[in-house]
Amino acid sequence: MTDSTLPDNNIHNQFDNKAKAWSARFNEPVSDLVKRYTASVNFDKRLAKFDIQGSLAHAEMLTHVGVISQEDLQQIQTGMATIIQEIEASTFEWSLDLEDVHLNIEKRLVELIGDAGKRLHTGRSRNDQVATDMRLWLREEIDTAIKLVKELRRALAKVALENHDVILPGFTHLQVAQPVTFGHHLLAYAEMFGRDAERLEDCRRRVNRSPLGAAALAGTSYPIDRERTANSLDFEAVCHNSLDAVSDRDFAIEFCAVSSMIMMHISRLSEELIIWMSPRFGFIQLADRFCTGSSIMPQKKNPDVPELARGKTGRVYGHLTALLTLMKAQPLAYNKDNQEDKEGLFDTADTLRDTLTIFVDMVGGITVKADNMRAAALQGFSTATDLADYLVKKGLPFRDAHEVVALAVRQCEDLGCDLADLDLAQLKDFDPRIEEDVFDVLTLEGSVNARSHIGGTAPARVKAEAERILSE
Ligand code: ARG
Repeated sequence: MTDSTLPDNNIHNQFDNKAKAWSARFNEPVSDLVKRYTASVNFDKRLAKFDIQGSLAHAEMLTHVGVISQEDLQQIQTGMATIIQEIEASTFEWSLDLEDVHLNIEKRLVELIGDAGKRLHTGRSRNDQVATDMRLWLREEIDTAIKLVKELRRALAKVALENHDVILPGFTHLQVAQPVTFGHHLLAYAEMFGRDAERLEDCRRRVNRSPLGAAALAGTSYPIDRERTANSLDFEAVCHNSLDAVSDRDFAIEFCAVSSMIMMHISRLSEELIIWMSPRFGFIQLADRFCTGSSIMPQKKNPDVPELARGKTGRVYGHLTALLTLMKAQPLAYNKDNQEDKEGLFDTADTLRDTLTIFVDMVGGITVKADNMRAAALQGFSTATDLADYLVKKGLPFRDAHEVVALAVRQCEDLGCDLADLDLAQLKDFDPRIEEDVFDVLTLEGSVNARSHIGGTAPARVKAEAERILSE
């Protein structure tokens, strides 16, 4: 067959004449709007580095099994090295006509090296290609997130160690409950971020599997070696079903779920920082670099960073919901819907990375106002439970002790004083078993020191826990 025997508008593929890769099949081009609507290059070009990694592994494998020649491989490697340089130097020309990162890179490769570039796509499809790129990209993001979550855990443990004996009121229902140490309170968040690091590590295992070789959906008739590409890309395993490999986005959903959980923890911490920084509490101060003023009220110093983190939590939850919804009714195997997985996932990773990075710094720079914390703990009868426990130890059943202390609290409220302000005679009126040693338990120190068991709020315990975390 010679060129002259073929209709001139459909013999060439895009790599020769700028038409689409599948143009031989079509009679008319897409409109500009449809082109914009279907293109992903504006956002998926951030996968370029991973797309090239995947292509190089695929080409090396094709050479190894004898599908393409050693010379082809060398040319592909040289061409890709040039493309990497061009992308890094921002001289690479991204084209909307070429739809996505994969076609843009392949087209440039063909421009640079000719036929060897056209052989690269043997035995694969953009469907397994994009799934591979996403997993390689996400694996790196997860590693960064694990590092940052662990750093945040350490930053909290450091501040906890410095404040292992600073006492503040612990709250339930946002009402003063019992005294706790500030270090203990911070270590509660260290626990949350510790579990988050475990969740990320677990999620990474399922991200780190290779879809490459699944091709469009059914696998390929070339004698490919999937284990080889998986190994060279540092995947732990291969995906064992080609239909699943190209359509599975569980790994992305899982990452969004773990990110949502982390942001939920960040948002809870933010809420506390905001409350503690309010002048009504005055428990802490955040460094100025995390706050802004008001354009109209000169006295203001607003905790913008924790407020924004609380707000951005909603946006990360939104990405999780969007991805779950994206997948919910998709039949096997690949559908173009999946192109919509990227922007939300990218934004999740970016938001998580920025938030964690800022929080590591911000937590490290908290100024603790121990006097205000203590003053607050001295209000609100925070040692009432200790008085009840004292009476139980003297032989009163707990429910009766609870009632006795409730009466004492009521009298203190009438008198406008704290339990520890009553003298022994007044206390004895409530129960004759009360003696001088009651003042040991009515003090804040007595209360926290008594809780020295594992997980308790006693300063000695908190110090040991913080040191344990810092030695991890
Ligand atoms: N840009 C596409 C995506 O992100 C790549 C895969 C396209 N595959 C296809 N058969 N149209 O999902």
